[in-house]
Amino acid sequence: MRSVRMTEELWQHLLSLREGSVRPVALSTDVDASCLSLYRPIAIRGEPMVLAQVGQSLDGRVATPTGDAQDVSGCDGIAHLHRCRALVDAVVVGVGTVVADNPSLSVRAVSGRSPVRVVVDCNGRMPERAKMLHDGGAPVLVLQADDVPLRSSRHAVIQLPRQADGGLAPPDILEALAERGLTTVLVEGGANTISRFVDAQLIDRLHVSVAPIIIGSGPAGIRLSPIDRLSEARRPEVQVYNIGTDIVFDCNFRAEMRHGTASADREDILMADLA
Ligand SMILES: NC(=O)c1ccc[n+]([C@@H]2O[C@H](COP(=O)([O-])OP(=O)(O)OC[C@H]3O[C@@H](n4cnc5c(N)ncnc54)[C@H](OP(=O)(O)O)[C@@H]3O)[C@@H](O)[C@H]2O)c1
Repeated sequence: MRSVRMTEELWQHLLSLREGSVRPVALSTDVDASCLSLYRPIAIRGEPMVLAQVGQSLDGRVATPTGDAQDVSGCDGIAHLHRCRALVDAVVVGVGTVVADNPSLSVRAVSGRSPVRVVVDCNGRMPERAKMLHDGGAPVLVLQADDVPLRSSRHAVIQLPRQADGGLAPPDILEALAERGLTTVLVEGGANTISRFVDAQLIDRLHVSVAPIIIGSGPAGIRLSPIDRLSEARRPEVQVYNIGTDIVFDCNFRAEMRHGTASADREDILMADLA
């Protein structure tokens, strides 16, 4: 397990990468190198990037059954989440999270710019009183199906085609954001929203931040389509980081895709040999 302790110099370096410039930094310890290995893939500009993050308990819960989700992550887990927000162009949540938690989705625990706030609200049930619509912070974009009547409201609404399953297609969501210059995206929850992106194979990295508490019951952070055999389970390449109060599992789905392709190629070769 690698240890991460953020310094001001490293953080300013990462923020400079996010802005497309490079403020040089000297790496004096392994801990500095770990910091960069965790955050650099999010900060670096060039290719589009989709990060998902889940803050959960030891037993994989993100809230109690009554929906109390306020203090699942420890203070370093919160700082980690705010760093991730500060390094991306847009943060995406489902409307279920807005209704349950009324989050502001801003960067407060660290220095840096708050991302554009995006709410996937297929059926137009975003509460008009939601905090983020009134706090004067970063812009809010609400994504709705194109058959939902537009209400006059304080936020920008983007209408997308409703799919046969009744929802919005995650690729359409990313395309709509990219058209507005938002190419690095943090999908912050909840389980319904993250799972749709994972199922669509659109997550590059997943950070599972585990806090040392046991809730015992309540919802999980990810709910994928059921599988029958463990051989069908997702097996991303994982690096583990001790960030202080919490442990972060940095899951690289791009590496999993590369391995998947490699083994498919190998199977083709074996089949050809047999023929
Ligand atoms: N610990 C963490 O890391 C964390 C982070 C965020 C949230 N949470 C917790 O997660 C819970 C909420 O999660 P949730 O899974 O119930 O709700 P959610 O994912 O926040 O929102 C789900 C709703 O968003 C809409 N939606 C999302 N993606 C869509 C798509 N591709 N197409 C169409 N509609 C889409 C749908 O709205 P309609 O139903 O209107 O169609 C869906 O029911 C809360 O308890 C919150 O505290 C935890």
